[in-house]
Amino acid sequence: SRVLIINGPNLNLLGIRKKEHYGSETLEDINLFIKEYFDNTGILFDFFQSNSEGEIIDKIHKSLDTKIDYIVINPGALTHYSYSIRDAIEAVRIPTVEVHLSNIHARENFRGKSVIAPVCIGQISGLRKFGYIYAINALKEKKDINGG
Ligand code: DQA
Repeated sequence: SRVLIINGPNLNLLGIRKKEHYGSETLEDINLFIKEYFDNTGILFDFFQSNSEGEIIDKIHKSLDTKIDYIVINPGALTHYSYSIRDAIEAVRIPTVEVHLSNIHARENFRGKSVIAPVCIGQISGLRKFGYIYAINALKEKKDINGG
């Protein structure tokens, strides 16, 4: 299956940014970890990072043409206010899991609300890079989650 991993604004700065929340690894380290973890499973990954809301929306739309089966998205701060990303995920109807490296419920109040999670199968928060792994495994087991 084809899995699109989207990381939103400022996640290109992982490694330098607030290590107490996000860890010391770079986004490249995390993407390599994911790729190696699922080596020989037949999953084809497309890793995408953008600081622009519009580019993320275009990428989600293109997922229909590129026959993406599942999306894992860490929308960064767009999580908390991007109704357009929410609508894009809802429109393409590709099963999606939202991931956060930090526990968004243990931080500032504004981070505790996601406008995107309601159109996702679920949300994983606070489990650092393993969140991406658990999200991918959950999507692989999707039949067991929602019977479809
Ligand atoms: C984040 C949490 C967001 O609140 C924040 O704006 C980020 C990263 C996380 O992975 O913990 O950029 O999505």
